[in-house]
Amino acid sequence: MMPNRFVFALLTVALLAGCATTPTPERQAALVDEARKTAGGLIQTLGGELQAAMRAGGPGEAIRVCKEKAPKIAADASQKSGMQVKRVSPKNRNPKGVPDAWELEAQAALEKRLAAGEKPETLDMYAVVNTWRGAEFRYAKALVTQPVCVTCHGAADSLPDVVKARLAAEYPNDKATGYAPGMIRGVLSIRKPL
Ligand code: HEC
Repeated sequence: MMPNRFVFALLTVALLAGCATTPTPERQAALVDEARKTAGGLIQTLGGELQAAMRAGGPGEAIRVCKEKAPKIAADASQKSGMQVKRVSPKNRNPKGVPDAWELEAQAALEKRLAAGEKPETLDMYAVVNTWRGAEFRYAKALVTQPVCVTCHGAADSLPDVVKARLAAEYPNDKATGYAPGMIRGVLSIRKPL
């Protein structure tokens, strides 16, 4: 066991570090700008790959893109931007796609804004949150279901047989069905410790 005084000292250091790194408004604006660019680039790249794979080999081939390329595209975007980029959803398909508390709240808030009439393309939000490790920049962009998404995320009994079979084999705990165009499928989540 660590002596309490030591734990207390550590906490104090962590809190001070958190305060010291709270970004200026200019720095925050730059972070938002960078996150938006990163998110936009990733959505475009992934969308392009998905469309191309659907045309070339149908949804069976496109599942491979989602499974293998989507995490790789996110990893590339992370490396390029120095921010951590991933896709999450409260009804996740990839077992690693479980949202944390901030991401859950972000999606709920974005859903409310969508219902209130905001344009789906620009639905995003950000915050600087204090954690025990210090301040962290967080960003979430809504991934809104398009007609093409329904092939693999629509009502479970309406999916093409090849998709049903691949999902049953590769994602036995899949929760990511039952979506219609216009619903928020998940969020693109970006974070950067400050
Ligand atoms: C060809 C089938 C297919 C299509 C079409 C498709 N997806 Fe997916 N989606 C998947 C698969 C498979 C995964 C799991 C990928 C993985 O293993 O990381 C996934 C994962 C996701 C995730 C990550 C969270 C989770 O549930 O694991 C999001 C968000 C997502 N898809 C949104 C979309 C959106 C938005 C569209 C339309 C623009 C779309 N998908 C189109 C098959 C598809």
